[in-house]
Amino acid sequence: MSKSRFQTPRGTRDILAPETDHIRFLLRNFEDLLLASGYGQIISPIFEDIGVFQRIGESTEIVTKEMFDFFDKDAKNPQHLALRPELTASICRAFAQHRPITPWKVWYMGPQFRYEKPQAGRYRQFLQVGAEVLGTPDSAADVEIISLAWSFFKDIGLKKTKLLVNSLGDTKSRNLYNDELIKYLDTRKEDLSKQSLITFDKNPLRVLDSKRDEDQEIIEEAPLMESFLSEESAQHFSEVKEGLQTIGVPFEISPRLVRGLDYYTRTTFEFISPSLDTAQNAIGGGGRYDGLVETLGGPPTEGIGFALGIDRTLLACAAEDTILDSASGIDVFVVDTAGGQEALLITEELRKLRIRSDRSFDNRSMKAQMKAADRSGAAYAIIIGTDELEKKQVTLRDLRGEGKQTLIPRETIGNNLLTILKEK
Ligand code: HAM
Repeated sequence: MSKSRFQTPRGTRDILAPETDHIRFLLRNFEDLLLASGYGQIISPIFEDIGVFQRIGESTEIVTKEMFDFFDKDAKNPQHLALRPELTASICRAFAQHRPITPWKVWYMGPQFRYEKPQAGRYRQFLQVGAEVLGTPDSAADVEIISLAWSFFKDIGLKKTKLLVNSLGDTKSRNLYNDELIKYLDTRKEDLSKQSLITFDKNPLRVLDSKRDEDQEIIEEAPLMESFLSEESAQHFSEVKEGLQTIGVPFEISPRLVRGLDYYTRTTFEFISPSLDTAQNAIGGGGRYDGLVETLGGPPTEGIGFALGIDRTLLACAAEDTILDSASGIDVFVVDTAGGQEALLITEELRKLRIRSDRSFDNRSMKAQMKAADRSGAAYAIIIGTDELEKKQVTLRDLRGEGKQTLIPRETIGNNLLTILKEK
């Protein structure tokens, strides 16, 4: 086959059935879970003023290297816009703009864009689902948020997911720790990888996130955040841990979990799929960001949330052989060799009853239509020839099993099929 002239841009892909069926299954599960937990959906723009995303942190790779940005066409006053790399900053912008009643509990789903080096599980356009709670410092909100993400992975059938949690403390404890970490890393500078040396200059905390072999021993021996937590932050963290234990969500403390975004305070967490390559094994993550709304021009407001990567979740499901129950396809195929008028009427009728049905076009031969019926995966074919048309009947053929055929009156076809399909 010769290559067509246009291909999907690097780092993006067309997602086709049956993968789209699996994605629909995941999204439906997520939506049901969040609607059952008092969260309202938010749909925000796919692009925003670039300033919204710059608040994620000037030293993060997302802001410095990975933004898809552009100017709009306003000749006098062009606005500098960017495709969203994530949704938390947009949600905080929306909060500052609309000032809803707190606690504001929202959920979302949609594509995000990051100009990353593409590889399996790392794309330039990827799908996230997520939830955020704004306006409460209560550790119960942290527990609720973590538990929702955990339930999602459990409900869809993933069994090996690991939950890592940490606390970065409040700004004061984080700064204290940062100073201590700089002192320590300074003594180990000559052993750090080249990449981590650069990270060290920009954002020392992020060195702890390095996956490079040569950095591992240095990271292992680094001072621990926990000993720098203020009393309030330590208390908050123990409440979160206790809450998770109370509801039976298993977790591991990961003292060096820092995450790739700068806005986090206190609780941070990540969901890892051990079935995926370490570089892309985070299938979700989140944390508290108590200062973000304020940096976007809103009132001081606490926030906590998570985002889960749907593309990676699918890879994890495939690696664990998880069966994603995604009913798709059709139940009935209408074969009409008497001109096509009946196929038109019957499919209309069946679809109104929400019986999933299809037909052929182009007045094709009986053989070609039967072949299409088989290929469609339908369990039944309704066959209409001139004979049936005259007698106001249709032939119902079982396409699975022995191919049993029965004649049924034309006007009862809808109800008949409803009963048959219900019994199956
Ligand atoms: P994040 O860790 O940057 O957090 O992304 C969340 C998840 O999105 C990751 O764990 C991963 O599964 C998926 N993901 C990220 N980048 C890619 C990519 N290039 N290709 C495929 N999947 C990807 C956030 O986005 C925060 N907004 C989470 C949050 C919500 N924090 C507080 N509230």
